[in-house]
Amino acid sequence: MTNIGVFDSGLGGLTVLRELYKHTKANYYYFGDTLRVPYGNRPKEEIEKFTYQIVDFLEDFDIDFYVIACNTISVSVLDKLEGKYKKKFFPITKAGLRASEDFKGDFLVLGTKATVESHFYKKNIEKKTHSRVYEVPAIKLVDLIENGQSQGDKIDQALKEYLSLANEKKIENIILACTHYPIIKESIKKNLTYKANIINPASYISDKLTSDLDESRIKIYLSKESRASKKLLAKLIDHPYTIDYVRIGDGD
Ligand code: DGL
Repeated sequence: MTNIGVFDSGLGGLTVLRELYKHTKANYYYFGDTLRVPYGNRPKEEIEKFTYQIVDFLEDFDIDFYVIACNTISVSVLDKLEGKYKKKFFPITKAGLRASEDFKGDFLVLGTKATVESHFYKKNIEKKTHSRVYEVPAIKLVDLIENGQSQGDKIDQALKEYLSLANEKKIENIILACTHYPIIKESIKKNLTYKANIINPASYISDKLTSDLDESRIKIYLSKESRASKKLLAKLIDHPYTIDYVRIGDGD
């Protein structure tokens, strides 16, 4: 019996969960901190504290290993998690780097403030290739998506700003370095004035996972109930699941 813990700052990680259960049959325990999202603008210490609270909650389910479905958490806390919990944590950022190897040309990393300021993708891709890596913090998108918007004027307006560099330089590849962004992939395409490769790291995350089950079971835990989450779950998760709303930490 393989129990996999999957977590994100909110609903974005559902795009990762979806890729996971499609490729690896296991018992999935997903936690999305929909009460305190976004994490991307928060100080590292706070992201760390919230992440420990999430993992402490998931530890009750006899988890074999974890998938960190959140770029922001991966770049901020990964180093400390394995030491603290003595378990394996697969970060989405590793999948993102693997994904980048399949593409030629320059890259635009679209991510949260924390992800962009870590320069994780830029440092690692530029070390291995001659590609140039540009970075844009797309700070307004997560709130809009968590509030149920995947298209429309507000999303278009924000994307026009965040994609202006890509449109100006015709950057060949765009890495969706935040798990919320695949939800607005169509809007991203619409706001590009040329054809770019839009890379979703989640498509590469299950390469290395193993399990001994024939059927997946999915349990979803969110820290806040909302209409947007119900809509998104119905759109993304085409497998039976149970859902519970729980408070973790001091709910701050
Ligand atoms: N979904 C998260 C990520 O992949 C970040 C969203 C947030 O700012 O909380 O980075």
